[in-house]
Amino acid sequence: MFADLPRDVVELGPGVGANLRYVRAGSTLVAVEPNRPMHRRLRAAAERRGVRLDLRDSTAERTGLPDRSADAVISSLVLCTVSDPAAVLQEIRRILRPGGTYRFVEHVAAPGGTVTRGLQRALRRPWAWTFEGCSCERDLTTVLRAAGFSRVDVEAYRLHSPFITFNTQIAGIAYS
Ligand SMILES: C[S@@+](CC[C@H](N)C(=O)[O-])C[C@H]1O[C@@H](n2cnc3c(N)ncnc32)[C@H](O)[C@@H]1O
Repeated sequence: MFADLPRDVVELGPGVGANLRYVRAGSTLVAVEPNRPMHRRLRAAAERRGVRLDLRDSTAERTGLPDRSADAVISSLVLCTVSDPAAVLQEIRRILRPGGTYRFVEHVAAPGGTVTRGLQRALRRPWAWTFEGCSCERDLTTVLRAAGFSRVDVEAYRLHSPFITFNTQIAGIAYS
């Protein structure tokens, strides 16, 4: 999803910089990361990669970035934690230039009636307590398709990690 990114990229919730490897050296990453304790490691990782960091402690719901200012917005494992994923998608649409893309990798609710879905329901509270408010029960594909992008390509897949509630995932590209 994050291959061939344009030169300058906005990342929502970059954490400590797991996706910096996909950002070209010499380019600028606008990083919207409200969790300040992560900033030191994110800055150090950007420096190691030769990426200029424009670090903001605003939220994905209200980035403070100008309208139509971004060619690409990316996020991984963030829409599960934000308070309002639909509001975040409207914010992404606002800041994307025409022809721009939003590329995402997220974990989602399993299909209804499956064992995994039952586990997600049973474990939702301890999961959220452990992972800072993260929900393992969001149907993000539906939210993405309802957001008004001109096109949304989504692939659903399954990880095989010990974190069973987290293993149902989607990756894709939404076009402004
Ligand atoms: C599970 S971590 C993922 C970090 C990174 N994207 C990765 O894949 O390693 C979730 C990230 O979303 C950030 N986050 C939580 N709420 C947010 C919000 N409202 N706006 C922007 N980022 C947020 C957290 O601070 C954290 O860095």
